[in-house]
Amino acid sequence: MNTRFITVMNQKGGVGKTTLTVNLGAALARGGKEVLLVDLDPQANLSIHLNVPINELPCSIYDVLVGQKELAEVVLSRLRTRLSLAPANIDLSGAEVELVNAVGRETLLRDALIPYLREHPCDFILFDCPPSLGILSLNALAASKEVFIPIQTEFFALQGLAKLLGVIELITKRLNRDLRLSRVIPTLYDTRTVLSKEVLADIRAHFGDMVTNTKIRKNVRLAEAPSHGKTIFEYDAASTGSEDFSALAEEISGRKSKSPPRRRAARKGRAAQAATPPAEPCAAPETAPGNGGRAASLKAQNLVFLKRRHKNGRAAPVRLVRRRMRRVLARGAAARAVRA
Ligand SMILES: Nc1ncnc2c1ncn2[C@@H]1O[C@H](COP(=O)(O)OP(=O)(O)O)[C@@H](O)[C@H]1O
Ligand SMILES: [Mg+2]
Repeated sequence: MNTRFITVMNQKGGVGKTTLTVNLGAALARGGKEVLLVDLDPQANLSIHLNVPINELPCSIYDVLVGQKELAEVVLSRLRTRLSLAPANIDLSGAEVELVNAVGRETLLRDALIPYLREHPCDFILFDCPPSLGILSLNALAASKEVFIPIQTEFFALQGLAKLLGVIELITKRLNRDLRLSRVIPTLYDTRTVLSKEVLADIRAHFGDMVTNTKIRKNVRLAEAPSHGKTIFEYDAASTGSEDFSALAEEISGRKSKSPPRRRAARKGRAAQAATPPAEPCAAPETAPGNGGRAASLKAQNLVFLKRRHKNGRAAPVRLVRRRMRRVLARGAAARAVRA
């Protein structure tokens, strides 16, 4: 079975990671896929969302990471039709400290999955990460082939992402050459506000066709479902939340990934370089009337430079984006110091 290993990650809290993991997992399972969800957040929101009594669990993903249990002993198999869960509880909060000196601490999860998958083949494994870039998130990244980043369509949505992209780049170099940023998923989209539209346009400008066509709209039923221990399909199958997650699952399972494998991308890049004349150097930030709000929002976030194009008109590689971002942030810090 060709399993897709997906880390759902954003080091910000409250952007919709857990909501995405639960409901995308449930939607994929409803579509006939065998799905395993892995709760890697010590707050165990994913497990609670699926109505698991976390204080009564005999063992959890923590026991797997510290080598006391096999993953198969911990997984709550078929918690829902075709949907299984490796639950977490508060024990996991000790893992960051306890694993500091463990040999191969970043690949404990990857190692645990190998024997599990031999006996329990899955179509999708989704890892729900805590809002930090610690050892638990690194374990998810080391075990994955794809990263999904949910981004809340609100002000400051893009701030902090350079750090996350840097970590993904580092893991790809050092630990897991198969890993790639696969999808950016706009969440908490408010159809009534201009701000949501502007931020969505910014997200699309930066991440291009990595951004899913489906955006997850703000929907109070999605916010209510966890307190009932239900997925959105169990809680309100007629809601817009239910509609959005069904559409997202279709989009995700329809195509493997929009970004071509790295070698093919590099070949395509070289061919394009030979064929096309160099594009305009660094387009100026957009300040046209009517776009003032969007330009201001980018400027306020020190992110205008992200809109500049790399040579040959292609988007700048992550490495360059991060370097520019560091330079701009350093300039901002220096200016603030002078003012002080
Ligand atoms: N699309 C949405 N509409 C309304 N509320 C949402 C939506 N997505 C998430 N929420 C709510 O926002 C809060 C944070 O979401 P959550 O998925 O827990 O974020 P994270 O896992 O990134 O911390 C939760 O109370 C959740 O129910
Ligand atoms: Mg969460």
